[in-house]
Amino acid sequence: MEVKWTTNLSVGVEKIDEQHKIWFDKANNLFQAGKNRKSREVIEEMLQFLDEYTKEHFSDEEAYMEQKKYPGLEEQKAAHANFIKELAKLKQDYEESGGNVAVIINANVLIINWLTQHISNMDKQIGVYAKGL
Ligand SMILES: [Fe+2]
Repeated sequence: MEVKWTTNLSVGVEKIDEQHKIWFDKANNLFQAGKNRKSREVIEEMLQFLDEYTKEHFSDEEAYMEQKKYPGLEEQKAAHANFIKELAKLKQDYEESGGNVAVIINANVLIINWLTQHISNMDKQIGVYAKGL
């Protein structure tokens, strides 16, 4: 399943939208590498890229919410921490499987769904709030 960022996922805050686009690209790169049965090293690198970018993005998004005194900050932080745990678990499962590509492919729907749902349900509210300031 490939998902591209589309305008219906726009949060209305340019920096966040730009990061979400990159985020989808990185997730898609990982799953593409899995589907194409790329080497274990390539997949590990993609997984690492996604993990690092996720942390960077969450920390930027949280800083923005803090700056705007967004009331849903704690709820967002908890959701972000959960997703970081999911990614760590995926990395661990992949390593423990000895680099079994099926582990990555099976995580595709879960991760893409998380991204789209989180953006639609939670991140969009940040934009709504910021516009009302
Ligand atoms: Fe978020």
